[in-house]
Amino acid sequence: MELLALLFLSFCFLTLSGRTFAAESGTPVTTVTVKEDDDVILPCSLDTNVNIEKVLFDWKKEGTVPQKEVFMYVEGNHYNNGLPGQDEQFRDRVSHFPEELKYGNASIRIKQTKLEDKGIYTCDFPRLQPEPKIFRIELVVEGRLKVRNVPGAAPHPSVTNLDQTNDWALLKCDVKGAYPKPTVEWWDSNNQTIPFEEPQVSKKGEHFYITLKTTVKKTGRYRCVATQKEIHHQIYKEINVHLNGAGPKPYVTILKENGLLECEVPGASPKPTVEWWDSDNKTLPSKTVQDEEQQGRFHVIVQTTVTEPGCYRCVATQMEKWHRISSEICVHREKTAQPPSGLPEWAAALIGGFIVVVFVVAVGVVLKIKGYSLKKDLQRMENGPSSELERNLTSEQP
Ligand SMILES: *[C@@H]1O[C@H](CO)[C@@H](O)[C@H](O)[C@H]1NC(C)=O
Repeated sequence: MELLALLFLSFCFLTLSGRTFAAESGTPVTTVTVKEDDDVILPCSLDTNVNIEKVLFDWKKEGTVPQKEVFMYVEGNHYNNGLPGQDEQFRDRVSHFPEELKYGNASIRIKQTKLEDKGIYTCDFPRLQPEPKIFRIELVVEGRLKVRNVPGAAPHPSVTNLDQTNDWALLKCDVKGAYPKPTVEWWDSNNQTIPFEEPQVSKKGEHFYITLKTTVKKTGRYRCVATQKEIHHQIYKEINVHLNGAGPKPYVTILKENGLLECEVPGASPKPTVEWWDSDNKTLPSKTVQDEEQQGRFHVIVQTTVTEPGCYRCVATQMEKWHRISSEICVHREKTAQPPSGLPEWAAALIGGFIVVVFVVAVGVVLKIKGYSLKKDLQRMENGPSSELERNLTSEQP
């Protein structure tokens, strides 16, 4: 129960990325996870009805001799109000929660965690009555991607289609000059690792050069992924493979929301003409950003910028083969709320006005009719019944 409560509370109060676990055996070890640069609360609590305003508690970090002093509290004196002895690493970064002391809560907050803050912390009550207590908390600091700052971070792998038939394609991935040594893999479009050949690894100085080949048997998009766990770095490069069929269908993508469209025709032979067309089949101005030949097959990438929402087609034509194939892509523009069905405002006003007039007239007519019949009723009540009675009486007379 206590464990559950602790888990829940920690979950509530830690940063979103924070996760906690606890081991129940021996001194409980709570694990708190935080992203580098975020603040973190290291939890440490006695029973909630023990007031520890007058109790000494001392936070230390294990792993060095002597252990680093993180935060000490002695009857109101602590490292932030003059008590000496705090380790340099934690200077001005650690605070406690004075309001929580009444409830036995000696948790601390560490500001802007650094990678070196990771490790085991102890929260010690050495003078507690009837017996001293000590808690252990593990802090895990997850590094952020700091690609630019990390020397040796693998650059984008380069990927090539070495050879291809109607049934398979041989793909090669090169990762150059990475340190620490990356794990390199081929993934399919579902991010599943696919089988690949034994990597060829060479080393120049401290840096690794890795080449990884794979044979794929299906049309699709494949990705070569280089991962450097130690520096939390992952980078990839994709390649499209089109097997069998005369000409590969172009791949079309919206590169930028402002309307930059890209069309990629992988591995076509003979060389196709690649164009962007609008919905009236008019050719749009476009830019060929890649036009490469590999083993007699052409890999062409053409970009265009469109300003209007609508559907556009990338058309690849191989004149020699009388072959033309295209792919379409539609560009939508998110519009801010507009009157539905584009009714102009004046029309809406006119219709509204008309409805009001009709209503007023209708009400008038109804009232008039009602008023008229009411009058009649009144008249009938005044003389109607009596004359009828008279009539009845007279008719009864012999
Ligand atoms: C102790 O105080 C901190 C800071 O207010 C809070 O996050 C934590 O949940 C408290 N622990 C308990 C057990 O109440």
